[in-house]
Amino acid sequence: MRFHILTLFPEMVQQGLAESIIGRAAANDILSIDAVNIRDYTIDKHRKTDDYPYGGGAGMLMQAQPVYDAWKSVAGGGRPRTVYLTPQGQTFTQKLARELAREDELVLLCGHYEGIDERVLEEIVTDYISIGDYVLTGGELPAMVLVDAVSRMVPGVLGNGVSGETESFEGDLLEYPQYSRPEEWHGKRVPPVLLSGNQKEIAAWRREAAVARTRERRPDLYRRYEALRACLPALKKEKLLHIDMTELIERGQARLVYVKGRTVCLCDTASGIYLHTAENREDGIAALLALREDAAACGEESPMLTLHQKFMREDAQKLLGVEETMSFYQAVYTRKEKLPVSGLYQTDAGQQEKRARRDAAQNGKDKKPAAEIRRLTLEELAFVRSVYRTVDDENYIRDRIEKGWMYGAFVDGVPAGFAGMHTEGGLGLLEVLPEYRKRHIGKALETYLINLSLEQGMTPYGQVAEDNEASRKLQESLGLCFSRQKVYWMEKKHPEKL
Ligand code: ADE
Repeated sequence: MRFHILTLFPEMVQQGLAESIIGRAAANDILSIDAVNIRDYTIDKHRKTDDYPYGGGAGMLMQAQPVYDAWKSVAGGGRPRTVYLTPQGQTFTQKLARELAREDELVLLCGHYEGIDERVLEEIVTDYISIGDYVLTGGELPAMVLVDAVSRMVPGVLGNGVSGETESFEGDLLEYPQYSRPEEWHGKRVPPVLLSGNQKEIAAWRREAAVARTRERRPDLYRRYEALRACLPALKKEKLLHIDMTELIERGQARLVYVKGRTVCLCDTASGIYLHTAENREDGIAALLALREDAAACGEESPMLTLHQKFMREDAQKLLGVEETMSFYQAVYTRKEKLPVSGLYQTDAGQQEKRARRDAAQNGKDKKPAAEIRRLTLEELAFVRSVYRTVDDENYIRDRIEKGWMYGAFVDGVPAGFAGMHTEGGLGLLEVLPEYRKRHIGKALETYLINLSLEQGMTPYGQVAEDNEASRKLQESLGLCFSRQKVYWMEKKHPEKL
């Protein structure tokens, strides 16, 4: 990721971003941060960059010419995304940071004095961003805040395998308190449960502490958290059908868009996809209208949504211009106990070899060893891309790998298949190479993911298309329960698909 910061104080941003994690990422060429001195581009013989505002008023304005020429020097002939840091912009959020992190290049323009001549802003700025409702003396600190927040979401910046976007399972809740050594300090002891080694009790304690802390320190966030949880009883009246919605709430990944009785509309904060369920058509339409407004406010022109009732399809089509692209049954693993794994897979190559040798010795013949399962890395991205037929979106698969939610099955060290978790939380992305079919590789992968999800306190589920007989059989063999009704994926059809 390349940042170009246009400023009158280049040393300030260079020094501010030269240390710690961001400095190290820049030194390792994962980021480049180039501070451009606007003053170097003025044509004024006294190197002046400001002047009085027409019409009078306090203070000085930065002039158009040096700003434009400084911008030209980095833009070349192109039109890179250019952010002007100003208290008049949209408020900077984690969501916006995530969106900006997808760019290859960003130009950040720092103002000073009373601002910048409007005409140059009109020509070069694509985004106006504020870091909060207070006024600073210049845009340098805001630009540094933005670079820091965006950079930590760039793959590799936080170090191997760590994701800046921890798919937080706490959502609107603040972090729970943490303790390190010693066990007692200033007469204060670490809460005993944290020393107990009981992961379940520790998780429960942390959740409670996070709730209490949020209620006390951020009543605004707590109200949101409560409003979402209040939807759960209504959604759980049809548990299987609404598993995607309840899991989104339980995993802290939901934003409430609309609720009235049993009519609920949520937005998945990770993917931007909406989920809609309606008690009747009238309320369902009200929820669709709220969805439309919400999407427009988020700058989303063609929202994607999952409908939970067939009778809402025409209304969604009319109001949002979307069409049904696929329909699925929900398949839910409703038990709390983990699935047995014996004979399916190992997670340690050494053990696998030993077992294979033992089996071969016992049987006196070459028995095919079970698969080894491990998390995929970006090195396997090309392999997944070449094999997986359902999703032709490299960025999506890359994202799934980076978030640690793609697993591969290896036989004799050779990749035989993979599976993962979709951004919205359903298990899927399953593919087994033809030569490895009928050897329980799919079952091994799915078992592994179900057990992993259970360990993390989730209810595992997936979505099965009506005509996907193989997937249906697999889910049934693992004891998953199917919803009676289907859910409907609605999206704008791409012109080439029409
Ligand atoms: N420049 C001055 N104050 C600012 C703020 N709050 N956000 C972004 N840029 C600014």
